[in-house]
Amino acid sequence: MPLHTDASPLPLDAQGILELAARSMFQLFSTMSQGMFLVDLSGRIVWVNEGYRRFLPDLGVHSVHDFVGRMVEEVIPNTQMRQVLETGQPVLVDLLTNKAGTFVVSRIPLHGDDGRVIGAIGIVLFDHPETTLQPLIAKFAQLQRELDDARRELAAQRSRLPVAGPGVRRAKHTFASFVGASPAATEVKRQARRAAQSQSPVLLLGETGTGKELLAHAIHAASTRSQGPFVSVNIAAVPDTLLEAEFFGVAPGAYTGASVRGREGKFKLADGGTLFLDEIGDMPSNLQAKLLRALQEGEIEPLGSNQLVPFDVRVVAATSRDLAALVRDGLFREDLFYRLHVLPIRVPPLRERRADIPALVEALADDLALRNGIAPPELLPDALALLGAQAWRGNIRELRNVLEQAAMRSETLTVDAEQLRQVLRESGVEPAAPTPDAGGASTGDDGAALLRPLAVQVAELERRAIAAALSLHGGNKLATARHLGISRATLYERMGQPLANTDK
Ligand SMILES: Nc1ncnc2c1ncn2[C@@H]1O[C@H](COP(=O)(O)OP(=O)(O)O)[C@@H](O)[C@H]1O
Ligand SMILES: [Mg+2]
Repeated sequence: MPLHTDASPLPLDAQGILELAARSMFQLFSTMSQGMFLVDLSGRIVWVNEGYRRFLPDLGVHSVHDFVGRMVEEVIPNTQMRQVLETGQPVLVDLLTNKAGTFVVSRIPLHGDDGRVIGAIGIVLFDHPETTLQPLIAKFAQLQRELDDARRELAAQRSRLPVAGPGVRRAKHTFASFVGASPAATEVKRQARRAAQSQSPVLLLGETGTGKELLAHAIHAASTRSQGPFVSVNIAAVPDTLLEAEFFGVAPGAYTGASVRGREGKFKLADGGTLFLDEIGDMPSNLQAKLLRALQEGEIEPLGSNQLVPFDVRVVAATSRDLAALVRDGLFREDLFYRLHVLPIRVPPLRERRADIPALVEALADDLALRNGIAPPELLPDALALLGAQAWRGNIRELRNVLEQAAMRSETLTVDAEQLRQVLRESGVEPAAPTPDAGGASTGDDGAALLRPLAVQVAELERRAIAAALSLHGGNKLATARHLGISRATLYERMGQPLANTDK
């Protein structure tokens, strides 16, 4: 029975089908992907398709002729093509970040007739993954943050001396760790210090990344309970069905599968110390009732037991949500709200205390350096000015991440505004406008412009002076430097460029 009819023009033999499939797949990739290139066994680029050419300028390559013939790592920083050539293993999906941006890429080895690797093909599946793969990237960023937090916690625990004994956690931050001398920062520290003296519940209200957790640690460390444990639960991170056990514990053999020894809840673990309830606004309503009862009675009932266990815990709760609005909408119990709202502390967002940005940058840079075993990154004045003008919806956590990414990416130890802009754009944030006027826009009027951090204002003035002198001297840098009475090296530094020896 002939398979090959007019309706099905497929080749009859396996080899023919394979070749057809390979050809079609290649054409598909070539048209659907953002770009492709081939390297030979030595890692030399031998071919690029039309689509790939658009990436060349961002890679700092002016023409295809400057690209083809070069070693792949010379022209594509951070590429992993060499590993594919060496191992013969494909990398089907990977994220590649370099000075041209972040890309979703695929790397496939090419085998000769004898099965040996003869080269490899690199494919850019998506550029701008921050827009095309937003959910995935957001998840990735979230995981990265959690990993960073866990690493920090671990490092803090390791460096903590003397060890307090098994299972007992000590607060890792004091008020001294809360960097900031602006009126808003001073006021929040004053309120938190006062709260530390009391035994009542504290409620920390503020956007994500403003330092609520840090303050909770500091309050504990400054309280009479500082020798007791500090235990935290992030309510948003624990599935609703597990929260009750997490809070109150499980009695021995409470249900099939429960451990014979039972499990202690966080209330019990925090006995004699402080229990930090993070993201309290995300608490499911059935548990709100149980938490209220526990707070009122000072007793808990572990799951599967009918005994009440007393505890002695000071609660510090935090939320980034509008708790009063949740109460109005019937999503948060009013009685629990009032129980927690004894000492409310509003933690201001970073944009309300921009004056603290230079000090924060310095502290965060030192901390990054310490953790990563590098020298602290140095921010050029234009970079500091940009950070000072940013909206910072993610507050200090976002500032920290931006600094970390910029520092990791910079080949020198300096970070300029352009590098920061790139990092910001890739995380889906529009960089603040760099012009002096737009920078001032966030502060309202001229009087307010003069009240911005001095470093920001000085950087702005420098930028304007350099721009004016450069334009007067037609871009001649030597004349510009002389005119301004600074060295050429200083001029380059202020412009955020390396000193070029071919300069006029
Ligand atoms: N005032 C501050 N000084 C120094 N670092 C801070 C300050 N506030 C927050 N941070 C840092 O910013 C990050 C986020 O703070 P965190 O307390 O987790 O915020 P929140 O709990 O409000 O989301 C942490 O790495 C923290 O150490
Ligand atoms: Mg938090």
